[in-house]
Amino acid sequence: MTDAPRRYADLHAASLADREGFWLDAARAIDWDEAPTRAFDEAQGAYGRWFPEARLNVCRNAVDRHAEGGRADQPAIIHDSPVTGTQRTITYGQLQDEVSVLAGLLADLGVGHGDRVVVYMPMVPEALFTMLACARLGAIHSVVFGGFAANELAARIEDAAPKVILAASCGIEPTRVVAYKPLLDAAIDRSAHKPEACLILQRPQAVADMTEGRDRDWATSVAQARRDGRRADPVPVAATDPLYILYTSGTTGRPKGVVRDSGGYCVALTWSMTNLYDVAPGEVYFCASDIGWVVGHSYIVYAPLLHGCTTVLYEGKPVGTPDAGAFWRVAAEHGVSTLFTAPTALRAIKKEDPRAQKLADYDLSRLRALFLAGERADPDSVAWAERALGKPVIDHWWQTETGWAIAGNPLGVEPLPVKHGSTAKPMPGYDLHVLDEAGKPVPTGTMGTIALKLPLPPSCLPTLWNADERFRQSYLTTFPGYYDTSDAGVVDADGYVTVLGRTDDIINVAGHRLSTGGMEAVLASHPDVAECAVIGIRDALKGEAPCGFVVLKSGVDKPPEVLERELVAKVRDEIGPVAAFRLALTVGRLPKTRSGKILRATMKRIADGEDFAMPPTIEDPAVLEEIGVSLKERGIGG
Ligand code: COA
Ligand code: AMP
Repeated sequence: MTDAPRRYADLHAASLADREGFWLDAARAIDWDEAPTRAFDEAQGAYGRWFPEARLNVCRNAVDRHAEGGRADQPAIIHDSPVTGTQRTITYGQLQDEVSVLAGLLADLGVGHGDRVVVYMPMVPEALFTMLACARLGAIHSVVFGGFAANELAARIEDAAPKVILAASCGIEPTRVVAYKPLLDAAIDRSAHKPEACLILQRPQAVADMTEGRDRDWATSVAQARRDGRRADPVPVAATDPLYILYTSGTTGRPKGVVRDSGGYCVALTWSMTNLYDVAPGEVYFCASDIGWVVGHSYIVYAPLLHGCTTVLYEGKPVGTPDAGAFWRVAAEHGVSTLFTAPTALRAIKKEDPRAQKLADYDLSRLRALFLAGERADPDSVAWAERALGKPVIDHWWQTETGWAIAGNPLGVEPLPVKHGSTAKPMPGYDLHVLDEAGKPVPTGTMGTIALKLPLPPSCLPTLWNADERFRQSYLTTFPGYYDTSDAGVVDADGYVTVLGRTDDIINVAGHRLSTGGMEAVLASHPDVAECAVIGIRDALKGEAPCGFVVLKSGVDKPPEVLERELVAKVRDEIGPVAAFRLALTVGRLPKTRSGKILRATMKRIADGEDFAMPPTIEDPAVLEEIGVSLKERGIGG
């Protein structure tokens, strides 16, 4: 990128005006088995495909070229695990060894190019070895977040149809050990698709029972594969071949399998490390997310390793493991240059240590910036972190669908003035517009739906797994020629993008993306519930929290507190603890329009204590008053 423009505005303009030149230049940072001769083919796929004739192996780019290019002794992964009281450092040389042996073992289990592998593991190095081993073979991994229940895991197993599943016996939360294996067994029982084998990493905190003939012990299998010399070399794949499927909440209970292709992802992530995060190879990058989320896929695993950095794999929380100084300790101890977390984590730290006194215990001289994403960053928390750290605090906006930032502040190109509450400007390749309901651009400074003019840049999803039509319907039909982000927002006169919230029924709880439609489906299946609605209400710590309203079937006279306990348990059991569903209010009626549409947006305004206009189409205004009273009884709203 030596002769590329170095000012943000020129660079962004060049990325749109000369798409081929811009991305072929960025692609030079990748080792290709067959280098791309053109960047984009608009004739392929739903809106075109990136690097259509090129071939590469993502694992070779993330591991071997560093191990063989002078970084064999540099730490690739630092596993820092306050919940187990352990730390482990894995160099690039060791990572190459671990990954090639595990890939050999997977190949022996029949895993090859294009096969799916489900990964149900906590934040342990073996989870990264697995993702990379899949990439080495050209297999497609699908990581499932540990906070989901068996049902959700079953839905993903059924859709991805994995040949094998790799899981750990447990995850560790500060207050409890979460036994994963019973959840895995239940999920496989419920799924019509059965994997041929499961490889189980036994952790001492909860040793799992094994199923004869299906389950294999990780440690003994890997040791045997090593003794037998079962190593696999990287398999070159098409740049357009999927690297992974990551399921995310859709507007129905059925999750969407976001497909990530191989070549475009490597190019976009590598570009971002230099130009957005301003990180150099060899530096230490700490992304405090979870590998079950897109942020974890991109910035715990792939981007830092593709760039030859050291990635910190942190198995702990921002607070309570042991205290609100945890992130600062990790940053100081490992010489972190860039920290990336969710605003919720920052709010949790601020709540416990409002004067940031814990910071005084640590030397953060090597830390250059804090990046935030996953949910709206409230200006108070951003300002607090700026004051406490004395470093840039950068909000940036993205989605599982894009795999990297849509808008951000490109510190490595030209640091833009920070505006609190805004995610700064579009990244290269994103042609961002704010549209009204009719698809017309709104005036500057006016709120609308943020849409991205097609084509989307590299790394963005080409489709949904086995669901091309759902992909088109979900994203490409609302505004023809555009990708609908389903985020509402504003672009100001300086071109700064502010993201205000979802336009669909997705809510963001502690940076975790959840579907209220999915929770409604669970409540509606309770035998006493006639109808229900779930909305996201403002929460000082988690940004949003789900709140359910249920109307009982006639003749049911169960006490509301008993029903609430049952409903809370049901959501936890069927979606998982991550839904953080704790409120289920029994009400007489739900507010509706005359055509029967539930007025969820108005209910939310009441719950958030905001002014609202009485919807002209409301069937009976008294119902809204009743909702307000029910909420007030629980200390919610005005
Ligand atoms: N496996 C199993 N259970 C999990 C889990 C996992 N990986 N992650 C969370 N859970 C459980 C929690 O233990 C909790 O269970 P509980 O109801 O028994 O207490 C529940 O899911 C809700 O978790 P969470 O919403 O995270 O709340 P919390 O009170 O445990 O923690 C914070 C609050 C702020 C510390 C935590 O939400 C946090 O670290 N947030 C940042 C999130 C983040 O980085 N997101 C990444 C998006 S980029
Ligand atoms: P996920 O797919 O889990 O990454 O969630 C994506 C959604 O999170 C987006 O559609 C936004 O609604 C929200 N989001 C992510 N980052 C930001 C941000 N920086 N500001 C506001 N909302 C954000």
